Amino acid sequence: MATADKDVETTGLTGWIDRRFPLTATWKKHVSEYYAPKNFNFWYFFGSLALLVLVIQIVTGIFLVMNYKPDATLAFASVEYIMREVPWGWLIRYMHSTGASMFFVVVYLHMFRSLIYGSYRKPRELVWIFGCAIFLCLMAEAFFGYLLPWGQMSFWGAQVIVNLFSAIPFIGPDLSLWIRGDYVVSDVTLNRFFAFHVIAIPLVLIGLVVAHLVALHEVGSNNPDGIEIKAKKDANGVPLDGIPFHPYYSVHDFFGVCVFLLIFAAIIFFAPEMGGYFLEANNFVPANPLQTPPEIAPVWYFTAFYAMLRATTDPFKIVLMIVIALLGVLALLRARGKWRIALPVLALVVIVFMALTESKFWGVVVMGTAVVSLFFLPWLDRSPVKSIRYRPLFHKVLYAIFVIAFLVLGFLGTRPPSPAGTLIAQICALIYFAFFLGMPFWTPRGRFKTPPERVNYKQH
Ligand code: HEM
Repeated sequence: MATADKDVETTGLTGWIDRRFPLTATWKKHVSEYYAPKNFNFWYFFGSLALLVLVIQIVTGIFLVMNYKPDATLAFASVEYIMREVPWGWLIRYMHSTGASMFFVVVYLHMFRSLIYGSYRKPRELVWIFGCAIFLCLMAEAFFGYLLPWGQMSFWGAQVIVNLFSAIPFIGPDLSLWIRGDYVVSDVTLNRFFAFHVIAIPLVLIGLVVAHLVALHEVGSNNPDGIEIKAKKDANGVPLDGIPFHPYYSVHDFFGVCVFLLIFAAIIFFAPEMGGYFLEANNFVPANPLQTPPEIAPVWYFTAFYAMLRATTDPFKIVLMIVIALLGVLALLRARGKWRIALPVLALVVIVFMALTESKFWGVVVMGTAVVSLFFLPWLDRSPVKSIRYRPLFHKVLYAIFVIAFLVLGFLGTRPPSPAGTLIAQICALIYFAFFLGMPFWTPRGRFKTPPERVNYKQH
């Protein structure tokens, strides 16, 4: 029974709790009276699905840890033990390994949605930044987790990635030694990666997801039209185009969860290795520090960034130096105030530094910058409208080229290196960075359609 204070129940168990903890108030604020735009579409399934996969990973992870041994002499056999001897162990393990890949499928689609509807734009910059931090954490979580089965790919993948740090000038060799805790990837490395994978990163991840959702609920959700529903409210202060999250979107998301679980189960039961993309063949061989596998390739979700790393050869470093020089000249001609001098000087310093350092290091920089660039999206995009629906055709074409370049990079990263592959990866890497760097210039240009006053919504 509601009382004078509409957010507090007076009777029953809920009343007892409400007098001690804001249960009803929180439920109303974040669920039953959280007004989300009524025009959510397919792309809005992926946030709740990411939450679902997070829960699956944590729960299956807990059960795996009950039988897994973080010891270089026992780890591989303990995973085999889970697969063959532990009741339902195979299911738990396949749920966790498939969950890792599905996490990235869902998160990439979730990020793509944000990109096309401009969900990172004001006032959702922090939602986006927390999201990018989640993405970084997820990459770290997957990387640390991959060492744990102690297969050939686990071992050599970790070896290659940790060795990348040794390319950093001056501190590199000591840094990679410090990360490994040994001269090669060893039991020490396995123990610390285990600690990060099982406790440190999941804690940060959960904290970031909470921050992500708190920030989202503070400003409200965007929608496929990219217009603010809070701009038009009724007499009670409820957005005219808003509907309560519960029951409307709880039911909608439950449907998404069912479809997702069907696909998830089909993969687990019929193709858990996914032709080597989810579980690599080489990882069914125990780690052997004395035998390098013929191909060392990361799991598919890293391959786009890995392809950029591999594409940064000596000639490509020179191309990058030329691009930076051109940007310096552009700044000298077009920038205003102190930037007119500062930017060309910065460009010159970077070019000199590049000339003195090896291309392997710049590969690491290129790979890192590819991820870090995402953080700046809210300030790079200067388009007067958020959603792709109201942008000029050439914007749509540029988005398509960007996505194709990213997919091609992802594909090339799974293939052994070849001269043609390297050249294509270099072109795609340039497209990737040109998309971001060029944003302040191309996003305000072209003929924009005027977004509607109210959201587009067809009853179905
Ligand atoms: C563990 C991973 C993640 C979880 C559990 C998660 C969860 C959610 C949920 C539940 C929503 C609201 C529903 C929806 O809009 O789909 C949301 C919105 C959003 N997320 Fe995430 N997210 C995750 C990762 C990310 C990442 C990696 C990014 C971007 C780099 C991101 C950017 C956004 C943005 C911009 C919105 C607002 C979208 C809008 O209002 O149109 N999220 N997220």
